[in-house]
Amino acid sequence: MMIKMKPGVYWVGAIDWNIRNFHGYITHRGTTYNAYLVVDEKIALVDTVKEHFYPEMMKRIREIVDPQDIDYLISNHTEPDHSGSITKFMEEVEGVELIASPLGTQGLRRYYGDDMKITSIKDKPTISLGKKTLHFAAIPMVHWPDSMVTYIPEDKLLLPNDAFGQHLASSKRFDDEVDTAVLMQEAETYYANIVMPLWMSVNRAFKALEGLEIDMIGPSHGIIWRGNPGMILEAYQRWVQGESKPRAVIVYDTMWGSTEKVANALFGGLASEGVEVKIHKLGSSHNSDVIADILEAKAVLVGTPTLNNGLFPTVASFLAYMKGLKPKNKIGAVFGSFGWGGGAKRAAEEEMKAAGIDLVESELDFRFRPTEEELEKAVQFGVELAKRILSS
Ligand code: FEO
Repeated sequence: MMIKMKPGVYWVGAIDWNIRNFHGYITHRGTTYNAYLVVDEKIALVDTVKEHFYPEMMKRIREIVDPQDIDYLISNHTEPDHSGSITKFMEEVEGVELIASPLGTQGLRRYYGDDMKITSIKDKPTISLGKKTLHFAAIPMVHWPDSMVTYIPEDKLLLPNDAFGQHLASSKRFDDEVDTAVLMQEAETYYANIVMPLWMSVNRAFKALEGLEIDMIGPSHGIIWRGNPGMILEAYQRWVQGESKPRAVIVYDTMWGSTEKVANALFGGLASEGVEVKIHKLGSSHNSDVIADILEAKAVLVGTPTLNNGLFPTVASFLAYMKGLKPKNKIGAVFGSFGWGGGAKRAAEEEMKAAGIDLVESELDFRFRPTEEELEKAVQFGVELAKRILSS
């Protein structure tokens, strides 16, 4: 069923209940691909859906208009979860004018063919549909270089594509219809796994959108912000600034339980001072869930056994993932265990530094099995780190 958002504006997207892996990010609650139909004297479709869901989108459009009456197709972003139905749509709907950012025109042609006819927003920065107008603004790198927003001033409606999204499948479409805690958790996870390394671009996008009156935000994934769009705008401001809570995340894996003993000792020291601590054992937790907890944490502690003179494979994978996402304003430390030569702790520290984490020196790398004295050393390290977290 299509959903009316405003007079003449409809959600006509698709719900993907089953997706659990979105290019490496585990989507426990599925997602949606949001497409929007704006109906006036002229009609525009803003974004499409993943190719597989094309019939679902068209069914919703047909509830409102004959697709042949659509005049414009706006591509806010080239990634195939939004552009994947463009070719099918243009084969079916004759005479529709496709509009994209300058880099979007290049990207769409690379994906779908050099002969694709596309109008650049450089030549048409606004389109009048009658009473409503569509205004376009590039927001490079939120999420790709081609990304742009569509804004309808008459409706105070912002359609910013990937920005402000969440991977959350639901039969409800609006923020005032779903559990706020779940919604914000998914928005946070989405920001941490997709947007976090692009914070400077988000800042630039905020400047580009400054002064716009916004009373509804329709992102390209998940729930539409209608009841309280300010909530997600404020959360993004916090995340972009790298604001943190007095929280530590301990992430580790273990071969024979030794690194796990150190993790638990660190937990004891940190928690005894009142710091919130989250523990993730890799193999049980997925990288994308760990990163979500790290977003608002002040400290990240990584534990690894040495395997073949280097990092334990699950820890290597996590560190590579975190290095790409570059969490902002974090302190961190490494701990572990080894049999004879060691090597993993040093390798993990290099990766942490490359991720932009301010390392706190530790001597928490123990041979075979940590003794009671060594575990006490880890507890004390946790206590000292907690003091530093609480004073920052
Ligand atoms: Fe939802 Fe960057 O695509």
